[in-house]
Amino acid sequence: MQIQLDTQPHASIQADALVTYVFDQENKLDGVLAEVDRATGGHLASLASSGELTGKPLELVLVHFPAGLAAQRLLLVGAGKPAKFATADLRKIAGTALRHLKSRGAKKLVFLPREGERGPEAAQAVVEGLLAADFESDKYRTEKKNEEIQSVSLAGFHSGLGANLSAAIEQGRVIGEAQTFARDLINEPSNRLTPRMLAEKAEAMARETGLAIEILDERKIAELKMGALIGVAQGSAEPPRVIVVRYTPENPRPGAPVLGLVGKAVTFDTGGISIKPATNMEKMKYDMGGGATMLGVMRALAALKPAIPVLAVIPATENMPGGKAQKPGDVVVAMSGKTIEVINTDAEGRLILADGLSYARQLGATHLVDAATLTGAIEVALANVNVGAFGTPREYLDKFLESARATGEKMWPMPLDDEYEEMIKSTIADIRNTGSGKGGGAVTAAWFLKEFAEDTPWVHLDIAATCWVDEGRPWLAKGPTGVALRSIIDFALKI
Ligand code: BES
Ligand code: MN
Ligand code: ZN
Repeated sequence: MQIQLDTQPHASIQADALVTYVFDQENKLDGVLAEVDRATGGHLASLASSGELTGKPLELVLVHFPAGLAAQRLLLVGAGKPAKFATADLRKIAGTALRHLKSRGAKKLVFLPREGERGPEAAQAVVEGLLAADFESDKYRTEKKNEEIQSVSLAGFHSGLGANLSAAIEQGRVIGEAQTFARDLINEPSNRLTPRMLAEKAEAMARETGLAIEILDERKIAELKMGALIGVAQGSAEPPRVIVVRYTPENPRPGAPVLGLVGKAVTFDTGGISIKPATNMEKMKYDMGGGATMLGVMRALAALKPAIPVLAVIPATENMPGGKAQKPGDVVVAMSGKTIEVINTDAEGRLILADGLSYARQLGATHLVDAATLTGAIEVALANVNVGAFGTPREYLDKFLESARATGEKMWPMPLDDEYEEMIKSTIADIRNTGSGKGGGAVTAAWFLKEFAEDTPWVHLDIAATCWVDEGRPWLAKGPTGVALRSIIDFALKI
């Protein structure tokens, strides 16, 4: 899909459809809407008075052969109440329009923002929204739908800021493509994406983007005494890997922070000996979503070049119930030296992240962000709407949440009170891998991780309920979402 700026007047651009949006309770049609209304002899005003055109969020009104426009169609997307509207919402608006028109055979689109959103930030949001919406999970279908948007022209953006706008569009493309890269990985079934294959794909990505990469194999993992990761991996015929990707700025500032990204990559989670029920178990191929997200983030950062060094540590393993598998009650020694009683082998994510966090700190990370499909409990707490965001100190978490807001990703701060610590006390080891209390499963999991982040500023994102959606949305296909990638990229560029 080509996306380009077009400085022609929007009315004269030839296209299958011109897309713009309408606010709820817009008193009078203004700007482009007033123009079309005039050209069509009051057509839009009568749609509005009949109640067909209201501007409610993501309402779609398609006008064919609009008089006064060179485009074949005019698609009006509802933008909701102006007071609730943010530039980040342009992603959903542009994405919803793309998916609607794509299924109706359109090939060439024009996107026209309203007067208030014609700068670089808006352009970037539109590009990201278009690319995210264009994603389809059809890799393994032999008969593909032959629907493709060939080009989108961005009209009406403020010229004069030319260079700035092209940079914004390029940045949107880099981020959009990184999100697609992550979603493709998340979609891969476990027979086509073992820990070794994930490592190979990470190596190919690093080669293409010029990032430094190191893959730790089972020998190196044993040498580093990553006992918590080894405990999870030992039940599988497939060996584990730890993927380490590094970005270093050209002129690193001495004393600058080093951002460490840690992503859970369980390429399949059967639960181990504490085995999961068969229903929906196939979905546990996406238990590597956190790791894939971090690889996508690194891919984008290679092009966006933040001022600080960033390293990603991605522990990758299967969680299988083999004859050598760890068993409930086993005690393992994590890389940090802490001993862990494994109460439930299905709480494996926190085990591999424990060693991932310790290793990121050992490699010099001064600030941490982890992302993991960690608990079913986060779905109970927040459904598939918000990512559960934990962290300490509070100011560090708040800074991260600002990036989430700026990029239009919904995340909600979760508690880490000391009371929860009691629930992960073990009778025979330093700590146990599940909570003893009732409820609070996402919080006790986060508390467990905190024990390994130690005193390093740390954010933990539980993406178990948001990394994958079972139902498509108007702006996004069902399946992997790539959630958290945009926030982490934004954070890395701002920290
Ligand atoms: N990978 C799962 C969490 C998960 C659940 C991800 C649903 C996506 C959708 C994780 O490893 C897990 O099994 N967690 C257990 C922890 C429990 C045993 C304490 C859970 O949430 O049930
Ligand atoms: Mn599990
Ligand atoms: Zn898991």
